[in-house]
Amino acid sequence: MTVAGPTFDLVVAANRLPVDVVVDAHGEGTWQRSPGGLVSAMEGAMADRGAAWVGWAGEPGLAPAPFYQGNLFMHPVSLTSVEVEEYYEGFSNDTLWPIYHDVIVQATFHRHWWNTYRTVNHRFAHAIAEVAAPGATVWVHDYQLQLVPAMVRAIRPDLRIGWFNHIPFPPVELFAQLPWRRALVEGLLGADFLGFQRTADAGNFLRSCRRLLGMSTRGDTVAFTPAGGEPASRTVRVSAIPISVDFRGLTALASTSKVLSRAADIRASLGDPEILMLGVDRLDYTKGIRHRLKAYGELLQDKSLAPPSVTLMQVAMPSRERVDAYRVLRDEVERTVGQINGEFEVLGSTPIHYLRHFYPREEMVAMFVAADIMLVTPLRDGMNLVAKEYVSCRNDLGGALVLSEFTGAWHELHQAFICNPHDIEGVKQTIMQAINTPEDERRRRMKAMRKRVADHDVQRWASNYLEALASAPSKPHRLTRASTRELRGVERANRANLRASDTASERIGT
Ligand code: F6P
Repeated sequence: MTVAGPTFDLVVAANRLPVDVVVDAHGEGTWQRSPGGLVSAMEGAMADRGAAWVGWAGEPGLAPAPFYQGNLFMHPVSLTSVEVEEYYEGFSNDTLWPIYHDVIVQATFHRHWWNTYRTVNHRFAHAIAEVAAPGATVWVHDYQLQLVPAMVRAIRPDLRIGWFNHIPFPPVELFAQLPWRRALVEGLLGADFLGFQRTADAGNFLRSCRRLLGMSTRGDTVAFTPAGGEPASRTVRVSAIPISVDFRGLTALASTSKVLSRAADIRASLGDPEILMLGVDRLDYTKGIRHRLKAYGELLQDKSLAPPSVTLMQVAMPSRERVDAYRVLRDEVERTVGQINGEFEVLGSTPIHYLRHFYPREEMVAMFVAADIMLVTPLRDGMNLVAKEYVSCRNDLGGALVLSEFTGAWHELHQAFICNPHDIEGVKQTIMQAINTPEDERRRRMKAMRKRVADHDVQRWASNYLEALASAPSKPHRLTRASTRELRGVERANRANLRASDTASERIGT
């Protein structure tokens, strides 16, 4: 088999590569590893075998040439600007995202978006097939790549394939709205193991297999007989395996003198309030930012809280800004912040410090250390890693977490102050309860939550996932002559795809 370039025993595929381009003063771009937990999770798994990461580099146009970042081989996938619009902004984030998040905003259905989603999923499958060594393990991530498992299996039946969904999987009544529901389920069932955040998500998927496709499920497995191609039916295991954070890394960073003094500076620059509340979210309508602001505004209105003794720091990271629903949300949030600040500001003290920026990891950790009350109030969230990050950063057992019951994190962090974000009165009471609970009790709660996250950190998650994938029921197939021929075809198709994609756009670094 002639495969251009190196091949690997472990291939991770996600919509984005875990690197960002950082441009220096001379305009030179270099790649830097993005701070996400997923890469640190994979470090343990990658240490004892070679690994590649297949993903989009974040800009439309020709993909940069593959490169090593440390010991991880980055294999970029190209997206044209039309594909960014139709596969990423369109089908992934304006069709699937709302359906998978309780239809908080209406989903948009376009057949040409679906076609582009399929094309891009094909490209990812081909790229994976290109870098996977015979018999390798492939770990596909998230809702942007739901067709990839079956596409990879069709090309490379010798591979062991897993998929993990970082977001919720919807109840069958919502999933059924998708005109492409059958293809999505069959795409996923190309995997040997499907991992979800919550038992309820795994249950929703199994129900969709039964109710929409008439498949039979037994416990946590689905028996699946593909329409064509493979002769025998396969058994696919489906279960909950909730993601986590790098507890030890965050704890260590939170105890450095640099972070501690930065945390003190942050408080001082806000006028040393008695109560510093913090919200950290992508600017996304699922995060419940408007509900949180409404509750806070009413607490100021009824004088339960009053600046300067209280202030709220709301970090809102820009996200998917070309999708309408995100633009509308941003306008609403910014209008509300303006109204609250206009009404309740006293000279020298601002009720809400609204920060629409990205911050480096160290600065985020300093914010977590500085905050007395952390507000995590999504309307629906697969997990919410911010909640687990906050807990990981509170080595001092200080602080309090207000947490929505509609997050995956709620299923693990029972000692948080729990609220239903739709119940504004309830959110207000929960915030006041978090503020007024005696320190001993707050420390007890924080200690219990820290133990939970320490015992179930992201490294353990990754190794549990890979073990579950390795022991999933179906047996890997040997690479046949036909699939070797197919693989060669894939290489040719990849080269053609690359030539065809957006040649007008510039390369970003090589
Ligand atoms: O977990 C959901 C998710 O879409 C991830 O895939 C991604 O890392 C994150 O949210 C941010 O989204 P985006 O890649 O659209 O900026």
